[in-house]
Amino acid sequence: MRDIFNAIQKSAIRIKEAIDVKDIGYSQQENSSGETQLQLDIQCDMIIEEEFSNVTSVHTIASEEKEHAQLMHNEGKYFIAYDPLDGSSLVDVNLSVGSIFGIYEGDFGSQNMVAACYVVYGPRVEMVFAENKTKLYLLQAGAFEFVKEIRLKEKGNLNAPGGTQQHWAPYHKELVDSFFAEGYRLRYSGGMVPDLHQILLKGGGLFSYPGTLDKPNGKLRKLFEVFPFAFIYEKSGGRAIDGKGDLMKLPHANIHDTAICFFGSNYEIERVKEVYAQQG
Ligand code: AHG
Ligand code: MN
Ligand code: MN
Repeated sequence: MRDIFNAIQKSAIRIKEAIDVKDIGYSQQENSSGETQLQLDIQCDMIIEEEFSNVTSVHTIASEEKEHAQLMHNEGKYFIAYDPLDGSSLVDVNLSVGSIFGIYEGDFGSQNMVAACYVVYGPRVEMVFAENKTKLYLLQAGAFEFVKEIRLKEKGNLNAPGGTQQHWAPYHKELVDSFFAEGYRLRYSGGMVPDLHQILLKGGGLFSYPGTLDKPNGKLRKLFEVFPFAFIYEKSGGRAIDGKGDLMKLPHANIHDTAICFFGSNYEIERVKEVYAQQG
């Protein structure tokens, strides 16, 4: 696991350099979710693949930018799913972006996750790594330094509602509005890494990405977006559900499968459960 932790750190430093210096033209290709890839998406994917190719404990990798999982080392035991550059369309407006990693043992799947990590590229580069506990690191003078352990409070005051409001179910809109009516404040950048990072570091709140008629299973992908953050929130004393049950109990059929998701502290997740339970 130490080797993986180091490879992620090396990747993060290289990705930060790529973000800073490269122009971000679109490529001619689409990824498996039908999104046109930026050259930067592809470049970040290659950086991570290269770093993991040096780590013999990594058996297989799966990436948002690769259609299929890819074998690295037959003798390895870890299966790593990653989103090389989450929120990449925000780079050209200079908002924060991130990389997300789900580390699974034996095979991909929520039940096999043993660690999760994300990196935020903002005014500063930070890394959050969760195994038994959730730990925050800051990139300083070329190295990641431990800052503190992260714990969520019982209740927060931030609300990050994802998706297109026009397509929300009426009960979902009522749920989101109920938090605003209670004094919660809107914090939504369109990048799940900084949005979820903010909620984690400010003590709590709710991030939601519902299902809609056009996207009944939401937008965010289980293996490299939803499960890693679900793991991190749970290890920080928060919760992560799909409206009804725990995200970390969900199966997946394909590496690019998506799930409806809610991440938050206890108080907010209880409310979501109450509202969604009434929908049958
Ligand atoms: P990606 O750039 O890797 O495709 O992911 C973007 C994701 C996520 O970061 C964010 O929370 C969500 O898309 C935003 O979607 P909406 O614009 O539909 O709210
Ligand atoms: Mn993403
Ligand atoms: Mn991405």
